[in-house]
Amino acid sequence: MKGLVLAGGYGTRLRPLTHTGPKQLIPIANKPNIQYCIEDLRDAGITEIGIILGNMMPEKVQEFLGDGEEFGVRFTYITQGEPKGIAHAINCARDFMGDEPFVVYLGDNLLKNGIGAIPELMTKEGADCVISLMPVKDPQSYGIAELSDDGEKVVRTVEKPKVPKSDLAVIGVYAFNRTFFEVYPRLKPSWRNEMEVTDAISLLIDSGFKVVPHRVDGWWKDTGKPEDILEANHLILDGIETLNEGRVEDGASVMGRVRIGKGTVVMAGSVVKGPCVIGEGATIGPGTYIGPYTAIGDRCTVAKAEVDDSIVMDDAVIDVEKKIVRSMVGKGSRILSSAGLVPKGERFVIGENTTIYI
Ligand code: G1P
Repeated sequence: MKGLVLAGGYGTRLRPLTHTGPKQLIPIANKPNIQYCIEDLRDAGITEIGIILGNMMPEKVQEFLGDGEEFGVRFTYITQGEPKGIAHAINCARDFMGDEPFVVYLGDNLLKNGIGAIPELMTKEGADCVISLMPVKDPQSYGIAELSDDGEKVVRTVEKPKVPKSDLAVIGVYAFNRTFFEVYPRLKPSWRNEMEVTDAISLLIDSGFKVVPHRVDGWWKDTGKPEDILEANHLILDGIETLNEGRVEDGASVMGRVRIGKGTVVMAGSVVKGPCVIGEGATIGPGTYIGPYTAIGDRCTVAKAEVDDSIVMDDAVIDVEKKIVRSMVGKGSRILSSAGLVPKGERFVIGENTTIYI
């Protein structure tokens, strides 16, 4: 079985973070979302993986993933270019898949328990397609599955229905075989002018192919919006183990489950309270408090501040006596004190679509 990871799309809801790279590379607990997808595929025994590239700095995806050796897999890059929908992206991989069945993983989806059950079901059930389902509170925002009365069969899948017939979202992990490419030419663009994967699944059902539903256990997250990324950070940090490869000075206090990378120093007088993760080569202190559910990237400096429930990306500097909560600080950004500067006042150099609470 082969794998396909989608790394396209504009990530408009995540601007300005997506002005400098694709959304699939935004770090969650210090690891890009897409890496979790790759590791899930690999752990399910899938090592031949196609990566669908969009037109939002695709070279950054290639630069990060390389040829796959580092992750124990092999990548083939496929260019989708303009984002014309998930089904269109999958169809771009037609030659790469040949006659093999495959698992598609959206690069901005995250699952607690991996995806092992999906390829297994595909084989065991002799299915043409397996879809993964999870109940959601806002079914209007997802692809939704309508099941038969006994709950065994999928009757139809509908993209973001105005009047949902169930609360079961079709989440971003699917298995298909070559029948997908057989029905694709009959697919029509949707109201949002995309070739919808949910329409392709309905077309498979209408054509008599076997579509098997799989109810996912554990949590699932689609990291399309900033609050989803913070929530995903929470969920991942909830499962981390303590590992200290850095240096905690005498007089510093590190409590709970905390992972500290090589070359990082937690200075005397600072407090780190897990669960949280701090990357490599970072400096925490003096006088710093890092609170639960915080991820601090590589080479960051956090001095004087209290940072809680936040994501601070690589090379960022926070050096100010302030409490920063539920925030995302982009790579290389700096939050500094304006004390002593004239004229007095808050100073910003901020990107498009930024939100600041002061
Ligand atoms: C996409 C799919 C939708 C699915 C969702 C899961 O939505 O179209 O069917 O439920 O991913 O993350 P989009 O991110 O395009 O709104």
